[in-house]
Amino acid sequence: MRIFSGIQPTGRKHLGNYIGAIRQYVQAQERGEAILCIVDLHATTVPYDPAALRRSVLDTAAMLLAAGLDPARCVLFRQGDVAEHPELCWLLCSVTAHGDLNRMHQFKEKSARHELVSAGLFLYPVLQAADVLAYRAEEVPVGADQRQHVELMRDIALRFNERFGETLVVPRHRIPEVGARIMDLQEPERKMSTTDSTEQGTIYVLDQPSAIVKKLKSAVTDSGRDIIRSPEKPGISNLIEVMAVIGETESADVELEFDGAGYGSFKQAVGDAVVEFLAPVRERYAELRGDEAALEAVLGEGAERARVLARETLADVRGRMGVGPPPAAVP
Ligand code: TYM
Repeated sequence: MRIFSGIQPTGRKHLGNYIGAIRQYVQAQERGEAILCIVDLHATTVPYDPAALRRSVLDTAAMLLAAGLDPARCVLFRQGDVAEHPELCWLLCSVTAHGDLNRMHQFKEKSARHELVSAGLFLYPVLQAADVLAYRAEEVPVGADQRQHVELMRDIALRFNERFGETLVVPRHRIPEVGARIMDLQEPERKMSTTDSTEQGTIYVLDQPSAIVKKLKSAVTDSGRDIIRSPEKPGISNLIEVMAVIGETESADVELEFDGAGYGSFKQAVGDAVVEFLAPVRERYAELRGDEAALEAVLGEGAERARVLARETLADVRGRMGVGPPPAAVP
C-alpha cells in the first residue's frame, strides 16, 4: 500500500503535529510504502521570508528524521524539488469547482488573517490534491483539521476519472482515533497550532523539559477534580488524550489509573510523560540539524525517487487530457 502525507516547513513543530501526524508517518514505514513531503510551495501562499523558508525546510527534515523516519524505508523530499506537483495542480484545476474551494474552512480562516489574499492560498487545496494524486497513494495520514482537504482530493480524483477515464487513485484519509486534534493548553476550545494558539498553551517538540512541565502544570482545567473525559471539560479531556497516546493505551485506562488523583498530580504526571516522550527526539534533532549537507543529500535522493513515480502519473494525465506532445512523440 502506498501512503503519502505532507507537512508545512513553517514554524516550530508542536505536540499536535507530533501526535496527530508525525507519529503516523513513522508507523507508515511499517505499514506500506511511505512517501513524505515537506511542502515549501504551500508555504509561499502566505507572507514569508525566503531565507527563513529554506532554513525551515531543513528544520522540518531534521525533525522528521529525529522522530524516526528512515530514508532507507521511506521517500522523504521537498515539494519544490519535484516540478510535477505544480504541473499536476494546474491540470487538476480544470476538474476542481471554484465553489468547493470557496467552502474550505482553512481558506476562510487564513484569508481572514492576511491583507493580501493570494490566488495561491485559494488554490492551496488543489496543490495538496496534486501532492497525493501524483503518487497514486491510497492512504493519507493526517490530523482532523485536514479532513476537508482530503475529501476534496477524493472529489477531484473522481471527477478526473469520470471526465477523462480511469487514471487516478482515489485516496482515503487516516485520522487517528485518539490525538487527531490536540488542543491549546490555555484555551482548550482551540486546537494547538503554529499560528493561532497561545505560546503558553503550545508545547513545542524542542521545548526544554522545564518549559514543558511548566506549561502542563499551568494547563487550564475546568472546575471539579474528576479525571474523566467529557465535552464540557475540554481541558482535562485533552490531557487524558495526550496521556493515552503517549502511554499507548486507551483513554478509559488513563481515567481508571488516575481516578481520585486530583488535577495537580495528574498534570505533573502528564508533564513527566511528555518530557520523557520528547527527550530522545530533541537529542537526535540537535545532532541531525548540525549537518546541513547530509540533510540536503537525504532530500535530494528522496526527490529523485519521487520524480520517477510522479512522472509516470503525469505522463498518463497529460495523455488523457490531450496536453503537450502526443505520447508517441515523447522520447
Ligand atoms: P500542517 O503542516 O499544518 O500540519 C501537519 C500535520 O499535523 C496535523 N496537526 C495536528 N494534529 C493533531 N492536533 C493538532 N492540534 C494538529 N495541528 C496540526 C495536521 O492535520 C497535519 O496532518 N495542508 C497540510 C500539508 C499538506 C498535506 C499534503 C497533508 C500539503 N500537502 C498532502 C497531507 C497530504 C498542512 O498544512 O499540514
